[in-house]
Amino acid sequence: MKYAIETFDLTKTYDDFTAVDALNMKIDNKSIFGFLGPNGAGKTTTIKMLTCLVQATSGTANVAGYDIATNPNEVREKIGMVPQLVSLYSDLTVRENIDLCADFYGLPEDLKASRAEELMELVDIKYAQNKIVKQLSGGMKQKASVVASLIHQPEILFLDEPTIGLDPTTKRVLWDLVEELNSEGRTIILCSHDMYEVELLCDEIGIINGGILAAFDTPRGLKDTMINEQKNKKSSKNSEVIEIMDELRKEEGVEDSAAYDQLKEKIERKNRDLKELSVMISNLDESMLNHLNNVPGIHEIVEHDSGRLVMDIDSSDESVSQIISEIIGQGGNITSISTKDPSLEDVFMSVTTKYKKEGVDDG
Ligand SMILES: Nc1ncnc2c1ncn2[C@@H]1O[C@H](COP(=O)(O)OP(=O)(O)OP(=O)(O)O)[C@@H](O)[C@H]1O
Ligand SMILES: [Mg+2]
Repeated sequence: MKYAIETFDLTKTYDDFTAVDALNMKIDNKSIFGFLGPNGAGKTTTIKMLTCLVQATSGTANVAGYDIATNPNEVREKIGMVPQLVSLYSDLTVRENIDLCADFYGLPEDLKASRAEELMELVDIKYAQNKIVKQLSGGMKQKASVVASLIHQPEILFLDEPTIGLDPTTKRVLWDLVEELNSEGRTIILCSHDMYEVELLCDEIGIINGGILAAFDTPRGLKDTMINEQKNKKSSKNSEVIEIMDELRKEEGVEDSAAYDQLKEKIERKNRDLKELSVMISNLDESMLNHLNNVPGIHEIVEHDSGRLVMDIDSSDESVSQIISEIIGQGGNITSISTKDPSLEDVFMSVTTKYKKEGVDDG
């Protein structure tokens, strides 16, 4: 089975409101998939359809090889789910809740006990196994919910914002667990607003907005698309400015002047495809700075009070190593260096606001 999940125009409407609109996506088997989107975008609704908790209005999906409409029982056997709002019985203990789940899946007694023990130890909730759920803290409930969802060893695990409100240590426990489950060959579907978490864990990411899948790629692929879009925007802006300048020049009848050409070159250089390189050189001096100012691949250097140099440099693959060689060649001692790429949060903002604008324009 190549895909753990494949959706076909999957749609959910509530009266005349479309919560999920003809969703088509393929999630690789044994991968960790990050599902992102603003509040109300349709993530939980999609997950509810894929886990057979609500019926799709139209379209369908295959989950673990079974159709959610025609084979919901087979789907349920293959999946586990940690819902956005923990859905344990609040008057039962942690252990009773876990046992109930195990019974639901028909696990034999010995297996039920050994798995419960193993999982409770893994997420560190065993100490609270005899506590009544309503007496637990939010994080403890979340851990108990994770154990309950994993008791039958599902092939596909859905986690709807599993680390929300968890302390940093507990978050890490869950992240480690996700990676471990994935290394055992399970597919993980992770809904999250935590970009760090998504970037750390996920192989591929889908961004949904207003019920529509707005982007789907690897984290690197999403960032590269954004970099290319920015490049294209810059270069088209550049040509527009030069065109206006040429027109004005014609209208004003300005003679060929060196000043005009210089200005044009400056605009072209400023809008050329550049990237930012930030370097800390412990023994930076005037002559080193002068030298760097004359290196062709460096277009602008800003020296910060901290001594950090922030440079606009050519964005070619070789430029960073060329500049490092120049600094070392001058006897410079580099103590830290970084380039600035768009973050996943930048991508998220760009994809979701772009959709909003397009939505308004279309409407
Ligand atoms: N039972 C329902 N009846 C009517 N509308 C609903 C129902 N369930 C969800 N919706 C609407 O569908 C849209 C998508 O909701 P959903 O819960 O899927 O969003 P989400 O992406 O999970 O958001 P969040 O990040 O806040 O959890 C929202 O506008 C929501 O109000
Ligand atoms: Mg949700």
